[in-house]
Amino acid sequence: MATGPFAPPRQHTQVFTILSRPAQRDGGIVGSPLRASRTDAAAPSLWSTFWQEFCLEDQLHERCHVPGDGRAVVDQHWAQFARKLPPRAHVVDLGCGAGIAGRVLLGQRADLQITGVDFANVPVLDVPNLTIHRGTPIEAMPFNDGCFDAAISLFGVEYAKIEEAGRELARVLKPGAPFSFLVHHRESEIVCEGSMRRRALRELLSGNMRTAFLSGRATQVAQCRQSLRLRYPAEPMVNLVSDHFRLNIGRSRAERQALWQKLASDVEPEVALLSLLDKCAKSAAEVGCWLIYLLTSMASVSVSVLRRRSGEPIAWRVSGLR
Ligand SMILES: C[S@@+](CC[C@H](N)C(=O)[O-])C[C@H]1O[C@@H](n2cnc3c(N)ncnc32)[C@H](O)[C@@H]1O
Repeated sequence: MATGPFAPPRQHTQVFTILSRPAQRDGGIVGSPLRASRTDAAAPSLWSTFWQEFCLEDQLHERCHVPGDGRAVVDQHWAQFARKLPPRAHVVDLGCGAGIAGRVLLGQRADLQITGVDFANVPVLDVPNLTIHRGTPIEAMPFNDGCFDAAISLFGVEYAKIEEAGRELARVLKPGAPFSFLVHHRESEIVCEGSMRRRALRELLSGNMRTAFLSGRATQVAQCRQSLRLRYPAEPMVNLVSDHFRLNIGRSRAERQALWQKLASDVEPEVALLSLLDKCAKSAAEVGCWLIYLLTSMASVSVSVLRRRSGEPIAWRVSGLR
């Protein structure tokens, strides 16, 4: 079962859990984050839907964090960063969501002041020293110049327009302030599972399966399911959606059409979010280009890979000084 940042809590039955390569490849820099798309414009409301669907306090941490032992590695990363900060440092968390990274920092250093910014309607939690500004884009933050001692981001800043975000970050950080970002790695489990899920969902809701279900052919639905299972053996949505089609194959054509449309619209937000994930995740070449934009605003930037104990990549670790 997928456990990435877009996967629902395990017991959640709704289909907001699904959806390859929309990544616009510009003529210039490969994977340039600078060109806007229709999905970009819809991103705040997509993310708001995401947070609204899954805003269950006891599940926030589990859901949004890295699966398996990667979570401890990520927490350790933030704890180390927290320890280096000056007393009562004021830290801005970019694309904070429900403030998971900030909460880990506070667990290590209760004297810190964390300010999270997120353009979505994220949950605002009652946590001492954590203030979340929702509806706030990273590219235009409502803060005075030089008011933060440090910046962090856990799978947030890579979704922003990096040139504008870099300039804005440079404005709100004090000169010499440290920053640390964990950025989606194209070969991480989160990104690979998300990509597989997105492709599986797209195939489930289009092409042969759609034709088979809408024309009421049970044998063809079973064949499509088998073929999808072979290609996506680890994707639970293949069975879930195929069963849904199989159980409803005897309904009238109009009912089948309505059921298919309902499923397609339930799944659409997740497909779109998974497309955003695919677009913002970085290969080695892509992270290099991305860093150039950040370097224009910062005094120094370095990058390494944060890995599980087994060696698999979790994220790019991008750090530096304003
Ligand atoms: C993958 S979630 C990560 C949330 C949180 N950091 C966590 O680890 O749980 C990405 C978050 O970035 C936010 N986001 C994306 N682009 C943004 C932008 N340009 N300005 C502000 N927030 C943004 C989204 O709304 C979403 O909440």
